[in-house]
Amino acid sequence: MNSLPTIRQNRNEIMMMNKQIFNLTHEEQLLTDKLSSVIKEEISKSGGLIPFKRYMELALYYPGLGYYSNPRQKFGKEGDFITSPMVSSLFGNTLARQILEVINFGVFPQVLEFGAGNGKLAADILNSIGSEITSYCILELSADLIALQKETIQKIAGDYFDKVVWLNELPEKFDGVIIANEVLDAQPCELLYRKGDSIHEIGVSYTAEGKFIYKDYDSSWQADNDDITNHWTNGYQSEWHGANSAFIKTLATKLNHGVILLIDYGYGQTEYYHQEFYKGRLRGFFRHHLLDDVLIYPGLIDITTSVNWTKIATTAIDAGLDLIGYVNQAAFLINAGIAETMGELRKNLSNDEYIKLSNQVNQLVSANQMGELFKVMALSRGIDEADWCGFRSGDLSYTL
Ligand SMILES: C[S@@+](CC[C@H](N)C(=O)[O-])C[C@H]1O[C@@H](n2cnc3c(N)ncnc32)[C@H](O)[C@@H]1O
Repeated sequence: MNSLPTIRQNRNEIMMMNKQIFNLTHEEQLLTDKLSSVIKEEISKSGGLIPFKRYMELALYYPGLGYYSNPRQKFGKEGDFITSPMVSSLFGNTLARQILEVINFGVFPQVLEFGAGNGKLAADILNSIGSEITSYCILELSADLIALQKETIQKIAGDYFDKVVWLNELPEKFDGVIIANEVLDAQPCELLYRKGDSIHEIGVSYTAEGKFIYKDYDSSWQADNDDITNHWTNGYQSEWHGANSAFIKTLATKLNHGVILLIDYGYGQTEYYHQEFYKGRLRGFFRHHLLDDVLIYPGLIDITTSVNWTKIATTAIDAGLDLIGYVNQAAFLINAGIAETMGELRKNLSNDEYIKLSNQVNQLVSANQMGELFKVMALSRGIDEADWCGFRSGDLSYTL
């Protein structure tokens, strides 16, 4: 096992653990067996095959058993991966600077966070600007994670706990700042491949021995934008992000006045569908190992894919939102003042503590860690100000 916690990098950037066999605990084995039975039952009822997108949905979100719905520890050293808020509080503290700036532009002082994970980002934002906002809403699909979020926020940002509201659904209209860190990458995607002149959707079935396998699902896939799949060569396989587009359209419908800040790993379309990635960007994580085979151990494996940021931007613009900026995480954090925040903290820290903090910042901004692969996109409705602190330099919109 790696000694360093893993961020969910690109599948080509770490050696893939293709055929790795892990020793599962008794509880893990029971959990994955139960979820496998549920998925197999659905496959059988559907005539022996379900679309990959449905498999991913069941594997990640099936109530009580799916990866994000079950109680197994997934975040941090003892789990499968870490995210920026878990690397350092400076991530949330710096994001809070951008949130405060748009509130000063006149956006209603309310935050809505999607998929709040272990609650660390919420706690860090509340500790930075809790007194400036009226409420901090969280929309989380997993009951287990809601319990974890309550525990973290109570422990780290207890003074602001009463400002936190857990929502079951999006309000009809929302005024304020919407944030989502590493949420788009966890939304189920379609798997497609080119065969001759047509694009096929890939499905999931299982063998007589009970192993999940890929199978051709539908040979009449109609993309809403043929510009993408037209460039695929015979055999090219990749993901299609229908759920991401639907998510952005929904946000655009609900956002009355305010801002959406999206943070995730991904690329502009040309880079995303580069010929080099002829097997796509889908990958799994388990105990800090990167997996190529995402069909093993349903419920125990985090399944994720990179974000097609071009698709996010065009969907948002078509839905009437303004694209404010698109930069990598390093540029965003540096522009928004992570160094200043660090400087302010320095006077209260010992040398050892300061070195620890510097290492954390290094992980967030280094090009070979989270600085370059992760991007930040700002979308808005009804905001006239164009000069936003996080997007002042390093614009990457030309890559979209
Ligand atoms: C990789 S985790 C990231 C957690 C956290 N944001 C962080 O950065 O540590 C992905 C999260 O997105 C959530 N998620 C995915 N789609 C969602 C949706 N449509 N609404 C709310 N949460 C969603 C999952 O339940 C999960 O909590």
